[in-house]
Amino acid sequence: MHTERIIRPAKNVYGSLRLPGDKSISHRYGMLAAFAEGTSRFANFSTGADCASTLGCMEALGAKVRRLEDGQVEVTGVGGRVTPSGAPLDCGNSGSTMRMISGLLAPQEGRFTLVGDESLSRRPMERILRPLAAMGARLALTEGHAPLHIEGGPLKAIDYTTPVPSAQVKTCILLAGLQTAGTTTVREAVRTRDHSELALRAFGAKLTRTLDSVSIAGPQTLRAIEAAVPGDISSAAFFLCAAALFPGSSLVLDALGLNPTRAALLDVLTALGARISVLNLEEQNSELVGTVQVTAPDEGLGTTEISGPLAAQLIDELPVLAAIGPYTSGGIRIRDAKELRVKESDRIALVAKNLRAMGAEVTEFEDGLDVPGGQRLHGATIDSGGDHRIAMAFSVAALGAEGETLIQGADSAAISFPEFFNLLDLVAEQ
Ligand code: S3P
Repeated sequence: MHTERIIRPAKNVYGSLRLPGDKSISHRYGMLAAFAEGTSRFANFSTGADCASTLGCMEALGAKVRRLEDGQVEVTGVGGRVTPSGAPLDCGNSGSTMRMISGLLAPQEGRFTLVGDESLSRRPMERILRPLAAMGARLALTEGHAPLHIEGGPLKAIDYTTPVPSAQVKTCILLAGLQTAGTTTVREAVRTRDHSELALRAFGAKLTRTLDSVSIAGPQTLRAIEAAVPGDISSAAFFLCAAALFPGSSLVLDALGLNPTRAALLDVLTALGARISVLNLEEQNSELVGTVQVTAPDEGLGTTEISGPLAAQLIDELPVLAAIGPYTSGGIRIRDAKELRVKESDRIALVAKNLRAMGAEVTEFEDGLDVPGGQRLHGATIDSGGDHRIAMAFSVAALGAEGETLIQGADSAAISFPEFFNLLDLVAEQ
């Protein structure tokens, strides 16, 4: 099923929303709960198809998943030992599922095959093969991609420096280290999102951390937890950017995840001139949660450059930042973001293509984009490439354009954020 969606120009963005649970945290809570001993319960678990892929794989490995009447997700774990399923484990569109579950399965007895959809089957998987092979795991890829075959068994601890900053790869290694005798250490040049470290601790595991490393001494067991998943800041990014665009806008987002390794967007929007206030900050299972209010500046957004470590920390928010670039006064430049080319789509190419379709001038680099400011866009047909973040980013760009925009493959938003279009209708005032 491929659906289209028409987006009409907006005058401003106004209202108050509470967003579904963070995708990254839900993957981890779901996976760890399914592996732990006992029954966990999660409120506000991600409604995205990606996290359903994680739960589906874990069910196929013996965990029990129930959706309770009050909306909570209940997961009963396998107590540290999965049951190999005869059938391939379907990771759908989800790179997080495939990369993280590989680390969980590599030390388990049995054979496992992991498959994904067309997009996931193109994405690079050597990045997990290398460290897992160094731990002694037997993994086979198909020309560097899925299908991925694992012949599980005991591993040895390693000390590994990730060549490309990746929270998925870090998590993969930590989940293997959790089950492996000795101390496994992951070092990274840029601190990537640390939800796995916080979640592992919440489930009772011990980890040690320095500024640029995390170590886990295995084997350790995990115990069930009860938790509320904070609202997804990467989903919020579309609304925060939309609200920041239109003078007169004001948007409040409640119970939003504000983990410092994820919240760099707030600094970037502030640097662009938006007024951001954070209220009711509290900690839930070591994750920071708060209420964010964004008000657009009367004089419009300014200019900014995103490069170096910031590009890695903002990787999921770069498409929407680039998409609002033409509406800023001085433009938005993005460099050091080559990873964007190997996400669910080649996000650099698709952002450039769709901005041009809307009449914008843009320069494409191997590792980024230069989007000049002070441009007017017109409605166009947008090719989402089946990529959720492209569909949503260009829905935001469409709010500021002249005329209607048609988003092709709008259904892909459901990968992370099925409620996106309904909520956009609610807060975008025409
Ligand atoms: C994620 C890590 C990032 C991010 C993805 C989710 C995670 O990927 O782009 O959407 O939950 O760990 P990489 O680890 O490939 O950078």
